[in-house]
Order: sequence, then C-alpha cells, then structure tokens
Amino acid sequence: MIYVRIADKKHVVAAQECLENLNFDGNELINEVGVLLSQEEARLLVAIELIDGQNVSSEQVVGAMILKYDDYSYNLVSLACRLGHTRKGIGSALVQAATRKCQAEHVPKLWCWSLARFQAKPFYEKQGFDECYYLHRQYFGEDCWILAKNIQLNKP
Ligand SMILES: CC(C)(COP(=O)(O)OP(=O)(O)OC[C@H]1O[C@@H](n2cnc3c(N)ncnc32)[C@H](O)[C@@H]1OP(=O)(O)O)[C@@H](O)C(=O)NCCC(=O)NCCS
Repeated sequence: MIYVRIADKKHVVAAQECLENLNFDGNELINEVGVLLSQEEARLLVAIELIDGQNVSSEQVVGAMILKYDDYSYNLVSLACRLGHTRKGIGSALVQAATRKCQAEHVPKLWCWSLARFQAKPFYEKQGFDECYYLHRQYFGEDCWILAKNIQLNKP
C-alpha cells in the first residue's frame, strides 16, 4: 500500500535520495529539503510504501515532491520516485495529493517545468496536465516543457 503525507524530519534523507534522481544543474534545492519542513509556502511531500510482514510492518519512502505556492497556483518544483520504483503508481499518488491540496485550498492551477530529457510529458498528460508548451534552452540552457492543469474547484 502507498500513501502520501507531508514529510517530517525522519523522511528528509530518504526524500533527498529520491530527488537526487533528478539530475540537473538547478537541483540544489534538494540540499534544502530539511528547511522546507518548517515553511508554509513550500512543502515537501513523501510517498510511503507500507510493507506488511508476518509480524511486523515497515515503511519506506519511495517518492518525494516539493510543492511551492506561487501567486494563486502551486508549482510542482520537484517530483521523483526512488530508483527502481517507477511505474508502480507512486508518481500518480503524489500528483493526486497535490491536486487534492489545490482543491482543499481553492487554488485553481497546478503546474511544473519538466526538462525534455526526462521524457515525463506522457506521465503528466496522464495526470490531466493538458496545457503543454515546449521551450528551447529555457532552464539552465536546457530544453524543457512547461506543463499545467486546471483544478476543478467546488463552488464555495
Ligand atoms: C516521472 C515519474 C515521477 C513518474 O512516476 P511513476 O510512479 O513512475 O508513474 P506512475 O506509475 O504513477 O505512472 C502513471 C502513468 O503515467 C504514464 N507514464 C509514467 N511514466 C511514463 C513514461 N516514462 N513514459 C510514458 N508514460 C509514462 C503511464 O501511462 C503510467 O500508467 P501505466 O504504468 O499504467 O502505463 C517517475 O518516472 C520518475 O521519478 N522519473 C525520474 C524523475 C523524473 O523524471 N521526474 C519528473 C521530472 S519533472
């Protein structure tokens, strides 16, 4: 079983291990994930796999995401699964949690930058990101997508 929660201190190292899989020049933020624990405007969320043994159950952080509030939208700053844990629904669980957070806080937009070489566009499209623009040499000199989804908000 996989569940998503706001990280606390004990998740920081494992979250960094996941986010280290995002290898790009602007990824120095992963050194600061511990700082995010105390911030309101930026949040570290983790996906946790619950493994039920015969007598004991254990937990492992299998994905991490940094979410930053930015002018009536949430920017999904970083998202990655633990190495060897892709295609198990972890990325989807994290994006669904981000979507629920937007809905709960009446934030109408969720968006991200995604470097072209990560080839993550099909994943984001599956999550309902239907506004997609390609920019050449935009991020630290690399080609990337800007991807966004409008959040269905219930009327107050
Ligand atoms: C991108 C990433 C977060 C996706 O997370 P994930 O847990 O593997 O994705 P899910 O299992 O939730 O996938 C849901 C659906 O998205 C689509 N999808 C996911 N990865 C895909 C890929 N590499 N190519 C095409 N479609 C993909 C599929 O339709 C998939 O459903 P399926 O497995 O039933 O076919 C993960 O692959 C990852 O950590 N990659 C390395 C870091 C990275 O690229 N991060 C994003 C950069 S901004």
